[in-house]
Amino acid sequence: MDNKKIVLSGIRPTGQLHLGNYLGALSNFVKMQNEGKYDSYYFIADLHALTTNPDPKELHTNVRHILAEYLAAGLDPEKSTIFVQSDIPEVSEMYLLLNMHVGIGELMRTAAFKDKARNALGITAPTQGDDDEDVAKEIIGASTNKRVNAGLLTYPTLMAVDILIQRADFVPVGKDQEQHLELTRRFARRFNSFYKVDYFNEPQNFNFGSAPVKVPGLDGSGKMGKSEGNCIYLVDDEKTIRKKVMRAVTDGGPTEPNMPMAEPVQNLFTILKLVGTPDKVEFFTEAYNNCSIRYGDLKKEIAEDIVAMTTPIRERILDIENDSAYLHRVLEMGAERARARAGKTLADVREIMGITKF
Ligand code: TRP
Repeated sequence: MDNKKIVLSGIRPTGQLHLGNYLGALSNFVKMQNEGKYDSYYFIADLHALTTNPDPKELHTNVRHILAEYLAAGLDPEKSTIFVQSDIPEVSEMYLLLNMHVGIGELMRTAAFKDKARNALGITAPTQGDDDEDVAKEIIGASTNKRVNAGLLTYPTLMAVDILIQRADFVPVGKDQEQHLELTRRFARRFNSFYKVDYFNEPQNFNFGSAPVKVPGLDGSGKMGKSEGNCIYLVDDEKTIRKKVMRAVTDGGPTEPNMPMAEPVQNLFTILKLVGTPDKVEFFTEAYNNCSIRYGDLKKEIAEDIVAMTTPIRERILDIENDSAYLHRVLEMGAERARARAGKTLADVREIMGITKF
């Protein structure tokens, strides 16, 4: 094996990917793959998806979606190792081992856990103050038909194992995953110091260019997510894309020159910057500033730019998605490579922890 740095990232299969996933994550995966500087591992985190108890058929379909979307967006099984998490049984074993060094308290304090725990219990978070204690009480006091499953609690252990078992150097993830990555580093340090080894290194986040791209939604506020009317899926057809964009929230229009933009309008400009050309951005910015802008024209431009960007991907998704033989081959190849590396790490970890043969 050569000495390229290892890049690894994964996506939970909870639905089809939208433009936010593409611009924020997937397009970066492809870029890193094509730079040729890294040895890249991209996977589908189906075990993580189980933490929210999906319908089995739906889970399987969603794995297929993400895989087709990975490939359609340009991930190449000859250049990257593309795999499904559950195809690597070594991950599950190391998850058990690493849990012996992970504290319940630190897991309970992670923001994503608190959100999801409250969701599972059907309660809303207090708007202010330190809510760690409340979460603990709410969980312990929950009525018997509402439960926070242990898999949800140990989600960060599993994610740390995904990363550490491949000895990854760089993990391109969005802001919402930074806390999990920080925990991964902490677990790596803890393992090293407990066993007095210098085994794991500390994986770092990675972003192309400067800041991570945050793609706003179409409903006026926040980032693009799966809620109705807020996002454009990569598989949306042209008509759907146009319809969704034309319905995007705006305001009554600028009433005086150079006035500040309201958030929904700013969001449309952010999207235009991501999908359109600089001269269009300049054109519409000027039109806004001199109050001649027609939001309908702006939306038409955005819709056409999105269509141009996603149509080739969409066509490939539809082709690939039904080619089970191809998908099977890709995953077989990926699993073999990912297991080879994972197996080596697991063997080392077992030995370090004292599980050795007589
Ligand atoms: N938790 C990540 C998310 O929700 C998915 C994920 C699981 C992941 N394991 C990972 C990302 C390892 C990067 C590396 O998006």
